[in-house]
Amino acid sequence: MNINLKININFMPSFEISDSPFEGKQVKLRALELTDLPQIMKHWNTYETRIGLGRYIPESIEQREEWIKKVTKENQSGKSYTFTIIDKQTEEFLGTCALQRINPVSRNASLSVVILNPENQNQGFGTDTVNSLLKIGFDVLNLHRIELHVFEFLKSGIHVYEKAGFKKTGVRRKSSFIAGKYYDDIIMDILEEEYREMNKL
Ligand SMILES: CC(C)(COP(=O)(O)OP(=O)(O)OC[C@H]1O[C@@H](n2cnc3c(N)ncnc32)[C@H](O)[C@@H]1OP(=O)(O)O)[C@@H](O)C(=O)NCCC(=O)NCCS
Repeated sequence: MNINLKININFMPSFEISDSPFEGKQVKLRALELTDLPQIMKHWNTYETRIGLGRYIPESIEQREEWIKKVTKENQSGKSYTFTIIDKQTEEFLGTCALQRINPVSRNASLSVVILNPENQNQGFGTDTVNSLLKIGFDVLNLHRIELHVFEFLKSGIHVYEKAGFKKTGVRRKSSFIAGKYYDDIIMDILEEEYREMNKL
């Protein structure tokens, strides 16, 4: 008997490569690997990086290696997702970013991003990374709210986050002692509906 099967594939959504949430205009986000360690260490212990992260005691290679192993486990358990940021054009390592402290009941998470080499800052990579993380958060992980903390002196960061739709929702006044002075820690967040409204989704 000759059975003629006709498969209707019209139901399949027609995604394009550019729709990948792991690819922005300038950056690609991929899994963090142990092999990224030498690139991370190049700028990890510079004073600028340590100040920006608020932990300015230098860290050993072993400590960073433990961190990669820890976040890899968290990736597997869905507690957090950490990515390596790659320049789409040159494939150069740029830094790391994450959606952390994921709460599956309230569907909240905390966002972080660091472009490690100062020569790569102020070129649009941070903005593109934040936009990709928001897409991952809301369209892949089905989050409802994403927050972040940023020091008051990190003006470029605050600007990038506001541009992406984050609103200042609170201040932990003079809560961080950095390089001999107390600084405010600003809390910002964005809700799913605000993200969709802003991006006409
Ligand atoms: C903060 C950070 C993530 C931003 O990423 P980036 O790639 O440098 O940012 P972008 O190039 O996408 O955008 C920078 C924006 O800040 C603006 N900017 C730069 N300096 C500024 C200042 N002093 N005040 C206000 N805006 C400023 C730029 O004009 C640009 O805005 P525009 O695109 O509207 O012109 C990155 O610089 C970084 O990782 N810094 C060090 C580590 C760190 O502190 N991480 C954040 C922890 S919360």
